Amino acid sequence: MEIEKIARRVCQNFKPYIAGKSIESLKKELGLRLIIKLASNENPLGISHKVIKAIRVNLPKVFFYPDSNACELKKNLSDKYVLPVDNIFLGAGSDEIIELIARVFFTHEDEIIISKHSFTRYAMAIQLMEAKAVVIPMRNDLTYDLRAIAKTCNKHTKAIFITNPNNPTGTYNTKHEFLEFLENLTLNKFSVKPLVILDEAYFEYASLIKDYPNSINFLERNPNLIILRTFSKIYGLAGLRVAYGFASKIITNYIEKIRPPFNVNSLAQVAASAAIMDEMQIIKSQKYVEKEKKYLYEEFSKLKIKYVKSVANFILFSSLPLKGNELFKKLLREGVIIRAMDEYELPFYVRVTIGLHKENKLFIKKLRKIICIK
Ligand SMILES: Cc1ncc(COP(=O)(O)O)c(C=O)c1O
Repeated sequence: MEIEKIARRVCQNFKPYIAGKSIESLKKELGLRLIIKLASNENPLGISHKVIKAIRVNLPKVFFYPDSNACELKKNLSDKYVLPVDNIFLGAGSDEIIELIARVFFTHEDEIIISKHSFTRYAMAIQLMEAKAVVIPMRNDLTYDLRAIAKTCNKHTKAIFITNPNNPTGTYNTKHEFLEFLENLTLNKFSVKPLVILDEAYFEYASLIKDYPNSINFLERNPNLIILRTFSKIYGLAGLRVAYGFASKIITNYIEKIRPPFNVNSLAQVAASAAIMDEMQIIKSQKYVEKEKKYLYEEFSKLKIKYVKSVANFILFSSLPLKGNELFKKLLREGVIIRAMDEYELPFYVRVTIGLHKENKLFIKKLRKIICIK
């Protein structure tokens, strides 16, 4: 095709992100009446009536463009985290923010460090900008090897992606490890430390842990730090696409300059504002997930299934002796969607999102059935 000649080569070879299928399309495809989705780390408790009310009240106004600067939402974030508005940026999900950062900073001359078994969107953003991804193995306990990362940095290292807690392992690195890591980073050929893009999509779950870092405290001493958070997970707004981040004023300005002018839609803005003010819903969600994780750990132990202890709202567990993808397919036929881990280079693992108790029970029932037949 002639058109192929004019698409950028990197786009011709680009492998798209494979998102899970919707429940409705799977119901049709598999001829099942009941399907439960435990695949994308959403909050099964959904959104509170306060958030629903905010969306309802603002629904008739959707014929207006959104507030391009999302002033109200930024002010609410600024109040909650006690940071100036100038240090806060927003995007249509962290997915968009990751790409915006890549577009601001990455070129074909740069090396960007990522870790094996971490969120796949980083590598995609790096590839899109034709930069080089340098992949560092994780430690045996499936946590980031921050010392190895610091040692790997060279004059070409423009940035480092770190997910804390990590998806899909659910593991985390401590405050102490981060302090040492940030201190140890050396200057690159631009005489600056590499950017550290710290993705904290599951921050609210992990923040219950004592030595999990409150990374906002690192910002002052580390102008190379960019923190990403999202409304898609504990806040239950995955469908509205809204995320935020904290960084120095200079970095924030660059992201602001190149972002699409109306990237965060008006319903997302009001819903996010209502959600951050609804502390009770967050506490309820944290408690729920803690309780259900305990239940799943106990059931895994009864079934002699090896799992990785998680500080987030999902659990990575061994699919042995089946391949992860086989277990995924068998569970799918039983109406339970989890996530196979081939794309994360964990072919003998699967990841399950913590659902409602009745969903978790059904998942265990189907898992037991599969394990016993095999
Ligand atoms: C670590 C991590 N970062 C970012 C995202 C994307 O989140 P968002 O919905 O804000 O684009 C996810 C979603 O699964 C994630 O696990």
